[in-house]
Amino acid sequence: MANQFNHKKYKPFQPVQLSDRTWPDQVISKAPTWCSVDLRDGNQALVEPMTVDQKTRMWDLLVSMGFKEIEVGFPSASKPDFDFVRKIIDENRIPEDVTIQVLVQAREHLIERTYEALKGVKKAIVHVYNSTSKVQREKVFKMDREGIKAIAVQGAKWVQEHAQKNPNSEWTFQYSPESFTGTELDFAVEVTNAVIETWEPTPDNKCIINLPSTVEMATPNVFADQIEWMCRNLVRRDSIVLSIHTHNDRGTGVAASELALMAGADRVEGTLFGNGERTGNLDIVCMAMNMYSQGIDPKLNMHNMSDIVETYRYSNQMDIHPRHPYAGELVFTAFSGSHQDAIKKSLSNYGEGEEWEIAYLPIDPKDVGKRYQEVIRINSQSGKGGVAYVMEQDFGYRLPRALQMEFSKAIQKVSEDTQTEVNSQTIFSTFQQEFMLSNMPFSLREYGIQRDKGSNTDSVRAVLHEDGQSVIINGQGNGPIAAFVSAIKEVSGIDFNLTDYSEHAIGSGADAKAVSYIQIEVSGKSYFGVATDEDIVMASLVAVLRSINNAIKSGAIVRQATVANS
Ligand code: KIV
Ligand code: ZN
Repeated sequence: MANQFNHKKYKPFQPVQLSDRTWPDQVISKAPTWCSVDLRDGNQALVEPMTVDQKTRMWDLLVSMGFKEIEVGFPSASKPDFDFVRKIIDENRIPEDVTIQVLVQAREHLIERTYEALKGVKKAIVHVYNSTSKVQREKVFKMDREGIKAIAVQGAKWVQEHAQKNPNSEWTFQYSPESFTGTELDFAVEVTNAVIETWEPTPDNKCIINLPSTVEMATPNVFADQIEWMCRNLVRRDSIVLSIHTHNDRGTGVAASELALMAGADRVEGTLFGNGERTGNLDIVCMAMNMYSQGIDPKLNMHNMSDIVETYRYSNQMDIHPRHPYAGELVFTAFSGSHQDAIKKSLSNYGEGEEWEIAYLPIDPKDVGKRYQEVIRINSQSGKGGVAYVMEQDFGYRLPRALQMEFSKAIQKVSEDTQTEVNSQTIFSTFQQEFMLSNMPFSLREYGIQRDKGSNTDSVRAVLHEDGQSVIINGQGNGPIAAFVSAIKEVSGIDFNLTDYSEHAIGSGADAKAVSYIQIEVSGKSYFGVATDEDIVMASLVAVLRSINNAIKSGAIVRQATVANS
């Protein structure tokens, strides 16, 4: 049987001969001119192209994000595209500082129709292209290099002539040698230079040369070499805006655009979340957010990331992956215990306005409209840090360390039993169940304290309920809790040590309460009780009883004499 999975079928991409390349030493320090091609390249790749309404929503979003150049369609090839271009011109929807761009093949009747679509526009970029790669020349067009160059030059002339017939608009010309990455560099530069010389751009009246990685064919460094080589060999470099347009066939569309920027590109075309032909276009959101995370103003506003995602879903009828960089539902979420711990610790040392340096979080989730609550989510992989974080963030409880450890075991069990994530409400109800609802056999009805200032001693008198019967206990100690512990030990004969006590306020103003955490030890094992009350002493005494009740429930304390018998 013939081998159906045979790498010998493919040949490696030949590297560019550019031993004195300079791009590896460059650093990206400012945003390029962005051009969104969502409404054209993105739209062309959809199962069902956008309706006018979907296009309008996407257009409004792109404008609101701050795109100044937007390719709005291929009006000579599609009626909905033609109608959409007319709509935004006729309805005066194009802001002064935004330039629309339209794509057209280098064919006269299509160019003519394109200018019809643009009638009355204040300014526009007319983007003309033809395919130049070896495979397209030899296998698709069956044309030699001269023939392909002639198409490009003729297209450039028509674009210019039609612009001259429409002098009331401000025109910018753009040329793409489509399938550039599959074009021999000497030929790519020959065709492109011929187009440039046709248009005769000047530094004050530039044209755009867009070099597309129509199909991504090599590692991103090779694309960067191609761009640096072109920058060195194009004529009138100072009169050209050098644009790139990467696709993502090898999954490195963003990397290729970033390296190409280092190699001299001025302008970048792409789409939101990379929607586009096959594996997509450059993901502009990712590339711009990468810049943002390096302290560079990307000149695009992505604070309302969830709105961007929502419009993307509506207009493209597609979803984004939960792990999509910067925007996916899970990209700022940690489930694993060690990650949660590190995030919790770094966040607790972070002050608003400080430089961002938080483990596992390359950017502040708040910058893209997320809440810290969404950062830590709990499943069976999570540890004490994560559970403690949720208790503090969502409910205001700052659990002591030993209690965190005990509680996280309970939560892990819930998660393992249910085999699901444990949400915040379940975490809290489990906490209550484990530490705050143990009111049998002992509960507290009332108490009174007297302080002897001379000896620094407190005397406590308390009325308990034990299995429903009232009991009065009395004790002394250097503080109310010590006095209460001494009273209950004496009367019940229960042997335990109070090993930890802490409390803090919860809530504020009239709603403020105290929460008290008690840890006791019985036969070397710890038991916990937690209580809240407006009265801090009441909260502490109730917490003591709950810790004893928990020890009794677990069987650690076998009650001999009951308090009722005292
Ligand atoms: O990918 C591509 O080559 C294109 C061109 C039309 C620029 O979309
Ligand atoms: Zn494309």
